[in-house]
Amino acid sequence: MPYATLTTALDQGIFTITINRPDKLNALNQQVMSDLNAAMDEVYSNPAIQSVILTGSGPKAFVAGADISEFSGASVEEGKAIAKKGQDIFFRIENCPKPVVACVNGFALGGGCELAMSCHFRIAAEHAKFGQPEVNLGLIPGYGGTQRLVQLIGKGRAMELLMSAGMIDAATALQYGLVNYVVPAEELLAKATAVLTVINSKAPLAVAGCIKSANAVFDESKNGFDVELHEFAACFGTTDMVEGTTAFLEKRKAIFTGK
Ligand code: COA
Repeated sequence: MPYATLTTALDQGIFTITINRPDKLNALNQQVMSDLNAAMDEVYSNPAIQSVILTGSGPKAFVAGADISEFSGASVEEGKAIAKKGQDIFFRIENCPKPVVACVNGFALGGGCELAMSCHFRIAAEHAKFGQPEVNLGLIPGYGGTQRLVQLIGKGRAMELLMSAGMIDAATALQYGLVNYVVPAEELLAKATAVLTVINSKAPLAVAGCIKSANAVFDESKNGFDVELHEFAACFGTTDMVEGTTAFLEKRKAIFTGK
């Protein structure tokens, strides 16, 4: 499906979503947000999509933040609506039953850092930079950044980044655990493809169960151990669990069907 501000491509089950406003460093205006939401509809509903790469176009930026030009003149109520829409879309990414990986190909600032953090994990190009510079604008992050930054790098480091508007480079992001790998820019998509190809060979319902259970750690309305118990039990009702255990005992490679 064509999108005004995204390009998409599906290859071997991996759906690559590229935010395509390079002249504005891929800043998230309301059109991008609506397009991202529609692209997530496609991810959720298209069985040919097994996993997702999210990245930005151009050599400079993943996403340099929410589009600041849409903020000036907005009221408190409009600010609330902007944050609610953003949080809801990023929850859909975070809770997607299919793996979503951010390929951070440059600046990931403000809403860009928040978008990357809503993905299941992140891979960075060597020149990537991360930060939450909202306090420079008299703002705070509104798309989940105050929560996920603390979750991912710990309170002290997050507090300093949030309050100082400081930026960290890819090597520091790796040291903080914000990204899983740092690779040369030209190897970014290949690295993500290699990692996702491994994941795509596993039982999809079990992968979805891992995502749901790990996310439950951070959901105060849920007991994560109960979620894990339920997801573990549900696996016993799947064809793939029968196939996986049988294949192991028969010393052959399992062939999963996602059922
Ligand atoms: N919203 C809207 N436009 C943005 C943007 C954003 N978050 N970030 C960059 N742009 C636009 C710039 O206005 C500029 O547009 P123009 O060419 O029409 O003037 C274009 O993208 C290129 O950005 P520029 O600032 O010229 O690039 P740079 O290399 O000098 O600086 C950054 C790069 C990322 C340091 C700088 O763009 C920046 O600080 N961006 C804002 C980051 C931010 O505060 N994000 C949080 C938003 S809540």
